[in-house]
Amino acid sequence: MSIYARIAGTGGYLPERILSNQDLERMVETSDQWITERTGIKKRHIAAEGEATCDLAEAASRRALEMAGRRADEIDLIVVATTTPDRIFPSTACLLQARLGAAAGCPAFDIQAVCTGFVYALGVADKFIRAGSARCALVVGAETFSRILDWSDRSTCVLFGDGAGAVILEASETPGILSTHLHADGRYESLLNVPYGVSEGHEHLEAGEAKVKMRGNEVFKIAVNTLGRIVDETLAENGMSKSDVDWLVPHQANIRIINATARKLSMPMERVVVTVDQHGNTSAASVPLALDVAVRDGRIRRGETVLMEAFGGGFTWGSAILKF
Ligand code: COA
Repeated sequence: MSIYARIAGTGGYLPERILSNQDLERMVETSDQWITERTGIKKRHIAAEGEATCDLAEAASRRALEMAGRRADEIDLIVVATTTPDRIFPSTACLLQARLGAAAGCPAFDIQAVCTGFVYALGVADKFIRAGSARCALVVGAETFSRILDWSDRSTCVLFGDGAGAVILEASETPGILSTHLHADGRYESLLNVPYGVSEGHEHLEAGEAKVKMRGNEVFKIAVNTLGRIVDETLAENGMSKSDVDWLVPHQANIRIINATARKLSMPMERVVVTVDQHGNTSAASVPLALDVAVRDGRIRRGETVLMEAFGGGFTWGSAILKF
């Protein structure tokens, strides 16, 4: 009998403070109209001073545990996808383990794949469960992306927001995650990056200059093509056709990218979960946040087929197809 990883609960958390397009009009040379037409974003949430990624991750994780009817001490694997960890170390996953009181001793680690981070984390946790190495995994995407934005750069600061999403994965004899597909191509590093870090450009990091840089238009074109390809790959590997997919839960970077992927799948927009208007791009948190919204409002039901996809810095990209 095969073992599958099945989503037993989802959770999300958004910081209280909302930054609207009108607020941004007062900060940089932009307009609500430009942001809405080019991206679909109307507002995003921003973490309060002193509120860190682990705080967001903890709130989302507690909600996922509650929905799953699980206690924290039953968790035997923690994977946190983040580009904005609280600290260089310990990992945010280790900080989260201590906060939750999750079984001391279970493996806990972070994954860095920027906006594809949650899909990567889900892929890794799925393999742990299929291999029999874990039975109850907490998988989180959490970001305080606002901390790595240059708030004077209108081409990036209007796009992103903060938040966290989490799922509890349980070992199950019924599916479950059917497959995950993870990819990267490091040759595109120059199109989307934070050009400084700990080991390179340390002085810029200390000067507060380690901020997101992006050639948006080029990223856009590659994202659309790549996401189209991964949708084909995912369906082909499972011998499925487009009509077998009940819900598309895409990475929420830009409504125009989401529309293009939906068209590729011949999916009506009523079957696509869209939160980009409300959340902006929350990087690794965007897919689990969108999933949580659609599960809690009753759209996604048990037994339905869900396709998730994401694209991000690296470049990285990936997908997961599952029976909810
Ligand atoms: N407000 C007003 N004007 C802006 C602006 C803003 N916030 N940001 C950029 N502009 C201007 C540019 O300066 C440019 O002006 P110019 O023509 O005078 O030079 C013009 O708008 C068009 O810029 P361009 O970058 O070509 O626009 P675009 O249609 O590609 O939209 C993005 C820009 C960023 C919205 C779009 O490229 C995008 O979403 N890219 C992908 C981003 C992404 O998904 N990144 C994360 C991957 S996970």
